[in-house]
Amino acid sequence: MSKNYKIAVLPGDGTGPEVVAEGIKVLNAAAAKYGFSLDYTTYNWGGDHYLATGEILPDDACDQLRKYDAVFLGAIGSPKVKPGILEKGILLKLRFELDQYINLRPVKLLPGVETPLANKTPADIDYVVVRENTGDVYTGMGGSAATGTPNEVAVQEMVYTRAQADRCLKFAFELAAKRHTKENPWKGLSKEDIEAGYTSQLTLCGKTNVLTYVCGMWERAMNEMAKQYPTVKCAYCHVDATCMWMVKNPEWFDVIVTTNMFGDIITDLAAMTAGGMGISAGGNLNPEGVSMFEPIGGSAPKYTGMGVINPCAAILAAAMMLEYLGETEAAAAIEKSVAYCTGNKLKSLSAGKMGYSTSEVGDLIAANI
Ligand code: IPM
Ligand code: MN
Repeated sequence: MSKNYKIAVLPGDGTGPEVVAEGIKVLNAAAAKYGFSLDYTTYNWGGDHYLATGEILPDDACDQLRKYDAVFLGAIGSPKVKPGILEKGILLKLRFELDQYINLRPVKLLPGVETPLANKTPADIDYVVVRENTGDVYTGMGGSAATGTPNEVAVQEMVYTRAQADRCLKFAFELAAKRHTKENPWKGLSKEDIEAGYTSQLTLCGKTNVLTYVCGMWERAMNEMAKQYPTVKCAYCHVDATCMWMVKNPEWFDVIVTTNMFGDIITDLAAMTAGGMGISAGGNLNPEGVSMFEPIGGSAPKYTGMGVINPCAAILAAAMMLEYLGETEAAAAIEKSVAYCTGNKLKSLSAGKMGYSTSEVGDLIAANI
């Protein structure tokens, strides 16, 4: 019997619904070709629902979502709602309550895609950022006193438990160990590294020279865990230097693991080096629970309803979802089709400049699977 997957769809705000529609179009084409099926249930949570009803999310939202095999999200954030309400009340709430402790953000320059980095090609920009997704300043621990006065004091703490660091690092080590094999080692390794048995590199991005407690704990945790992964070469890079190398020598990275806030910042920079928000996808993963896949570009409200937004990021998020559901061949076929289109069809990745409408891009990618 062929497999059936139950998917909760959260189109969300702005251009979210338009790009999600193209993601579903491509998912269905892949399902037909690879012999599985998908059932979709749509939840209209987001800015309009909040403005119409006053409800951000129903109390049982997470219980409902736990019944699905995966969640496919468009974008959350509306100019009609004060910043923070929807982002914290929907996106962050789902990530935290569903304990999606990994935010996986691949950084891969596809053929035909322009990068602002001089003389860099798809061979140079191909790494993955594993962003911890439940701790750090995002925990919201802190407060303020004398608020609104010249004596106001405000505190928001970087919070991590060792267990949070360990589970994130374990995922990153496993990913690094799987990404390359002895036959096909990561090409940044030296001859000596290869002779020593390494196939992959894992770089911890932190700030151990200032955040001695928190990043120091992460570094110790990584070094202890490294003993279990003899093929993974560990490296460490401060976050500021990471930004520098991501621009100057992106080929130095294989897998980067980092804390939530640093991961938020470096993945916007990384996305721009690989063609921008129109092509960048991410997965909020709970390896033991339900995961949520999203284009990371946001709701792009000014393009809403115009049919000009680039759906590639949402389509790649859909591919990542299939990969995590175990449909690896179908996922790879979608990625290949996106790469074919960026390499041979699209004039640009920017909204309105692709040479095709949003739904025509979806058609092209679906037809090429
Ligand atoms: C992201 C976004 C979110 C984050 C915002 C919208 C809360 O920037 O997914 O990277 O900071 O994680
Ligand atoms: Mn961000």
